[in-house]
Amino acid sequence: MSKKFYITTPIYYVNDKPHIGHAYTTIVADVLARWHRQNKGDVFFLTGTDEHGTKVAESAAAVGKTPQEFCDEISALFEAKWKNLNISNDDFIRTTSARHKKRVIEIFNLLKDAKTPQGREVIYQGEYKGLYCTGCEKFLTEKELVDGKCPDHKTAPAELKEKNYFFRLSDYKDILRKKIEKDEINIFPVKRKNEALAMLEFIDDFSVSRETVKWGIDLPFDKSQKIYVWVDALSNYLTALGYPDDKNYKKWWPADVQLMAQDILKFHTLYWPAILMALGLSLPKNICIHGFFTINGEKMSKSLGNAIDPDELVEKYGVDATRYLLLSQFAFGEEADVQVARFPEKFNSNLANGLGNLVARVSNLLEKNKIPTDLRHDYNHDRKLTKEFEEKMENYKFNEALEVLWKRLRACDEILTKTEPWKMKNKEEIKKVLEPVAQDILSVAELLQPFMPATSEKIVAQFGAKQIKKGETLFPRIS
Ligand code: MSP
Repeated sequence: MSKKFYITTPIYYVNDKPHIGHAYTTIVADVLARWHRQNKGDVFFLTGTDEHGTKVAESAAAVGKTPQEFCDEISALFEAKWKNLNISNDDFIRTTSARHKKRVIEIFNLLKDAKTPQGREVIYQGEYKGLYCTGCEKFLTEKELVDGKCPDHKTAPAELKEKNYFFRLSDYKDILRKKIEKDEINIFPVKRKNEALAMLEFIDDFSVSRETVKWGIDLPFDKSQKIYVWVDALSNYLTALGYPDDKNYKKWWPADVQLMAQDILKFHTLYWPAILMALGLSLPKNICIHGFFTINGEKMSKSLGNAIDPDELVEKYGVDATRYLLLSQFAFGEEADVQVARFPEKFNSNLANGLGNLVARVSNLLEKNKIPTDLRHDYNHDRKLTKEFEEKMENYKFNEALEVLWKRLRACDEILTKTEPWKMKNKEEIKKVLEPVAQDILSVAELLQPFMPATSEKIVAQFGAKQIKKGETLFPRIS
C-alpha cells in the first residue's frame, strides 16, 4: 500500500496580495508533494485562504467592497497565482465557504462538551481585558510591545475589554511540553522547537471568540460572539478533510507536514495541538518552520513597496526558473535574504549555461552524428545520486538537493571540455563519451521533477528517445 502524505501550507490572509513570501511556502509544499507522489506516495496537498476578521473587513471597506466580494476577488487571485507557478494542490480551502463554516461550527460544538486532561471544561466564558493588534489579529501582552507598539506592525494596539470565551490552554501545558520535548510533534528546525518550549512557559488561556468583531462565523452557543479568526483558520486543516462527519479525514489526518514561517509558530505549535487534543485527535507529525525573509536586505513590507508579485518573476524567468531561483538560494529554515538582484546572473549561469547549454550540446551532437542511445529511465537508476539527493530532501535542504544535481551537471561539462567529442571522428568513440553523459542528464532530469516539473518532463521525453534530438532552447539567456 502506498504511504499517505498529507501536507499543508498556512491559509493566507486575503487582506494582502500574494507575494513571494507566500509563494515560497507554497512552492516548498508543492516540491514535497510532487516528490512524494513521484515516490508512489498517496498525497493530499492543501492550501487556501483565511478570510474572516476585522483586518479583512477593514481592507474591504477601504476599497468600497463588501467583505465577501473582496474575499472572492483576492482568494481567486491567490488561486490564479498558484496556477501560474504550477502548484499541484489537491484542494483549496476558503474559510468563507459553506463547507468550512458548517464544520467549524461542529468543531465548536465538540469543544464545548470537551474536558481538559484535568477534567475541567475546555471552553469557559470570561472577560478579556488587554491589548489587541488588528494587523496580527492577535492579543498582545505589554512585554511584547516595543515603545508601546506592535513590533511587527509599528502601530499601537487597541485596548480591549470584552466578553470572550476562552480555551483552557493552561491545563495542557504539561502534556504539550512532554509531547514537544519527545518530538511527538516534531518541530523543525530545532531552534524553533526551543522557541515553542520557551513560549509555552508564558502562555495563558486564549480567546476562542470575539464580541466586537462583525466579519466572522457566529459562535453556535452564543450568537453575540464571532469565532476568533485564528481558531476558525486553524480548523481548515480538518474541515477540508470533511471532519467531523466525513470519514475521509480518517484517511488523511494527522498531517504529515505542516509548513509555515515563524510568525505563526505559537498558533501552530501550542494552540493547534491543544485544540486537537481537546477533540481527541492525533497531532501533526512534523511542523516545519522557515524564516521570514527579506528582499535585497530589506524587510518586505507594504510601506516599502518591495513585496514582489510571483507573476513578475514568472514573466521574466518562466515558471520553472522562478521555482528554482527561489528554492536554490538558501536552506529552508534559515533567516534568508532573497537576492532578486542576483537572479539574472544565476539564471544565466545555472540554467541558460549550466543545464540548458549542456542539454543542447549533448543532444545536438547525438543527433548530428546519428548516434542512438539506450538509457535507463527510472528514478532509482543512479543509486548514488538518488541517495545523496534524498538525504538532502529528507532534511528539507532544498538548496543542497539542487546543488547535488548541479554538481553532477558540472561534472558532465568537465568531461565534455576534457574529451572534446565534437572533434572526434569515430562514432563509437563519440558514443563512449556521450552516452554516459546523456544518462547523467536523464538521471538529473528525473530527480529534478518536483522542482521543475515542465523542464524535467521535456528532458525526460527528449533523452528517453532512442535517437536523441536537439530540442527547443530550454532557458534563453537573459541580458
Ligand atoms: N492567515 C494566517 C495563517 C492561518 S493558518 C491556519 C496568516 N496568513 S498570512 O497571509 O500572513 O501568511 C503567513 C505566512 O505566509 C507565513 O507563515 C509564511 O508561510 C508566508 N509568508 C508571508 N510573508 C513572508 C515572508 N516575508 N517571508 C517568508 N514567508 C512569508 O498568518
